Amino acid sequence: MTVGVCYFPEHWPRERWERDVEQMAEAGFSYVRMAEFSWSRIEPEPGEIELSWLEEAVSLIGDHGMEAVLCTPTATPPKWLVDKEPGILQEEPDGTTRQYGSRRHYCFNSPEYREQTRRIVSVMAERFADNPHVAGWQTDNEYGCHETIRCWCDDCAAAFREWLSDAYGDVESLNEAWGTTFWSQHLRSFDEVDPPRHTAAEHHPSRLLDYYRFSAESAVDYNAIHTELLREANDDWFVAHNFMGDFDSCDVYRFADDLDLITWDSYPTGFAQDRRPGAASADELRAGDPDQVGMNHDLYRGAKQQPFWVMEQQPGDVNWPPYAPQPGEGAMRLWAHHAVAHGADEVLYFRWRRCREGQEQYHAGLRKQDGSPDRGYRDADRTATELAELDLDPVDADVAVLHDYDNLWATSIQPHAPDWEYWTHMRQYYAALRARSVQADVVHPDWDLSGYDAIVAPALHLVDEELAGALESRVEDGAELLLTVRSGAKDTSNKLPDVPAPGPLADLVGATVDQHESVPEQLDRRVSYDGETYGYRTFAEWLAPDGATAVGSHVGGVGDGRAAVTEHEFGAGHVTYCGVWPESGLADAVVADMLERADVPHSERLPTGVRATQRDGYTWVTNFTSDPVAVTVPDDARWLVGGETVGAFDAAVYEGAAADLSLDQR
Ligand code: GAL
Repeated sequence: MTVGVCYFPEHWPRERWERDVEQMAEAGFSYVRMAEFSWSRIEPEPGEIELSWLEEAVSLIGDHGMEAVLCTPTATPPKWLVDKEPGILQEEPDGTTRQYGSRRHYCFNSPEYREQTRRIVSVMAERFADNPHVAGWQTDNEYGCHETIRCWCDDCAAAFREWLSDAYGDVESLNEAWGTTFWSQHLRSFDEVDPPRHTAAEHHPSRLLDYYRFSAESAVDYNAIHTELLREANDDWFVAHNFMGDFDSCDVYRFADDLDLITWDSYPTGFAQDRRPGAASADELRAGDPDQVGMNHDLYRGAKQQPFWVMEQQPGDVNWPPYAPQPGEGAMRLWAHHAVAHGADEVLYFRWRRCREGQEQYHAGLRKQDGSPDRGYRDADRTATELAELDLDPVDADVAVLHDYDNLWATSIQPHAPDWEYWTHMRQYYAALRARSVQADVVHPDWDLSGYDAIVAPALHLVDEELAGALESRVEDGAELLLTVRSGAKDTSNKLPDVPAPGPLADLVGATVDQHESVPEQLDRRVSYDGETYGYRTFAEWLAPDGATAVGSHVGGVGDGRAAVTEHEFGAGHVTYCGVWPESGLADAVVADMLERADVPHSERLPTGVRATQRDGYTWVTNFTSDPVAVTVPDDARWLVGGETVGAFDAAVYEGAAADLSLDQR
């Protein structure tokens, strides 16, 4: 387990590099990532390649016992290239061009850009093919950042028509799948389909869903240009990409087969502010939400079922969220431990030094702009020493949480409530598992689920017979399954089937959805479950049991007394259907009952912000709050890092099971 850093040698005078690299080595770093935005330095004039500076930086890194991770520089095509090929630029739905001047301004479907990509990637791959200090590559940088997965240009229009023709074969099949009789949308040929550009009212939901799928796959196709050329040059290299947190449009599962390593970029205090409804708490402003960050760790681990890397770890205050508070003392160390507990094998901090120019001057580095150590450096240095002691097996989870971008897209296309949000709904159940110290793999529903004792499937919206059959056989064999609102409501074309929800899941659930409603705060939002009354939010269903038992009911409102939660014995397992978006107390009660039935070891319910996470026989206690916690562990547990008192924003590690600890927050 090691720590590394992202470095931009091109931002600093050559005389400084040696000192920088020495200091990285002194801190015990292993990998240094470079070059992701350096095209204009690599090719200052068309066809004039200058790579000797990067070779020098790589040699220095190698001389100091570290390895380089290089990036293809395609996230920032230089000005001369944009002027030469203006067609590479992306377009908004209203036809506005996304101009040169920031980054990610190219279209994945531009034939000219694909050609230029082949050229620059080949040049770099060939130059470094025999370099012993390059361990692997990152393709491009954060596909889709700044909402750039989707583009509405003419190249995308042509590619979309081709994609539809491959998917449907003939246009009548498309008309049938989408349902184009509505609002006179019948199509006579694929040529009549455009990208969903600016319109008076909303677009057809089936067309939008296919456009989202097509756009995600365009990025995957584009990425394959990089992976092929890099592997051709040296197939010992790993090829990775750096994905983002709670990110809607870029589907990591579609990339998984073509990448050797999944990595992501973790900025906890930014995410707590800019991609979650509601205000961040004081502690979250200092350290983020461990379940928000943790769920992304588990997603990027689950996507390939293997250890992942954090390619960019927040190093201190950052420039892009609404506010940029200083992280809590020690938070940069806490985040790295938390990542390792969730299955990361490597954590690289972004960036080495605060930048003196350009858009990110208000973003910390591990070192200040004068080269002196900043708060993050001290944390990273300590973390590198602590992690160097550990050699860990991958995470082994008993529980799967099913996650699917198609469900995210379909429910966000028709949210049916202003505060419907797929990640947040999913996280309500995920947080209940995490509060009970249970490791969960976040996986796609098509994944082989045979290794899991319990499966949680939040808003499993688009369901076909095949998926229903796979879940049925898993439950028949003894798994516990928890389904939630909106499950089985639509087919995979984003259309209602001719039976009520949960559609093909009805036999398994032993109930159907009689009514659904979305509910603002002014209306009654209460249910009873196991003798207690709980609140819920946003979305509710009235269930009609048919074989299942109603174990929870609506209290008050027009649905008073109707079933809200059902339980159904099916073969050797059970299915719980929770027909409301539960408050955390209800999510905990339902999840804890499921864990009991599944015989999955779990702890007492931990307080918000404190988590215990088990990997390879070790447990990390991570405290994302400003209050110390006292931890009681079994007598034979051995502390490796820290001890019984885990301070504010602190992490401790013991050898022993997470399920066995108890906590007292002071
Ligand atoms: C990431 C990006 C980096 C840098 C960083 C700032 O999203 O990959 O290049 O912009 O954010 O926090």
